[in-house]
Amino acid sequence: MLLARRMLAHYRDLGSPARWRIVECGAHDGTLAADVLAAIESLDSQAFATLEYLITEPLVLLRDAQRRTLAGFGDRVVIAANLAAHAATPLPGVAFGNEVLDALPCHVVEPRGGVWKECLVDHDPRRGWFWTQGSAVCDRIAAMLPSPDAVPEGWRTEVRDDFAGFLAPLRQVLERPRMIWIDYGFSREEYHATARNEGTLRAYRDHRVVADPLQNPGDQDLTAHVDFTAVAEAAHTLGGRMDVCCSQGSWLTKLARPWLAAMEGNPDAAMLRQFQTLTHPAHLGRAFQVIELSWD
Ligand SMILES: C[S@@+](CC[C@H](N)C(=O)[O-])C[C@H]1O[C@@H](n2cnc3c(N)ncnc32)[C@H](O)[C@@H]1O
Repeated sequence: MLLARRMLAHYRDLGSPARWRIVECGAHDGTLAADVLAAIESLDSQAFATLEYLITEPLVLLRDAQRRTLAGFGDRVVIAANLAAHAATPLPGVAFGNEVLDALPCHVVEPRGGVWKECLVDHDPRRGWFWTQGSAVCDRIAAMLPSPDAVPEGWRTEVRDDFAGFLAPLRQVLERPRMIWIDYGFSREEYHATARNEGTLRAYRDHRVVADPLQNPGDQDLTAHVDFTAVAEAAHTLGGRMDVCCSQGSWLTKLARPWLAAMEGNPDAAMLRQFQTLTHPAHLGRAFQVIELSWD
């Protein structure tokens, strides 16, 4: 509901255009999309009638699941493997993704002998990590890392150096976009703090952490936290700017003020419980960050 309200605010900032688009990246089984669509329909029937809800999802299994979940919204919803077919017909609107940036590929690096080395796997990940003897990747990403002498041997971290490649197709299908990315992550300074020596690359299978990310190749989700400084820099290289970067708790609390005030004296207990889980620092309020990017 609160995400839908944020999107509607942008739709109105755009002057309530005759047609507009929301692009959701990586919509999993479509549950969040269904919530956002239902909220927009209930809050603003005109905005709903003029909306195209475009999902970009690389996995065919998940595209099928999304089609099932969202069947009731008819041709309001378009589901595609990528955005190529829409680049020639941009519309004003919003792009967003929840826990998508952390699923994008990353480089794993360690300092060894005073230089950065990239940790790689070969075609059989069960053989474990090996280290490059000097690589173009390490030269390219050195500016995004502390000096290799400033961190202890064995310290490990991850770097994504192509957020611009991810954002550019979204920029192409949207006019005057606002982008909202919600994910686990830190500013660059916090990400590469010396005390955090293990990196954040993790594997999940059936919602449980698996100790070795190289186990079960293809059968477990790999994730690494997001360097939000890198996301802001990528937007900048594409002519955009960062408007907001804060904890999910602060972001939702600010959005919720009018809604909370309207509920005074007549609270909706279930909605308040959900709100608390999403905003409380001990639950998801601090671990998740939100970044908003915009283009004129
Ligand atoms: C952890 S799930 C996201 C959960 C979902 N957004 C939600 O709120 O429930 C990660 C999603 O990102 C998708 N994904 C991975 N790489 C992607 C990419 N390059 N573009 C779009 N989606 C991607 C995955 O297929 C999956 O649907």
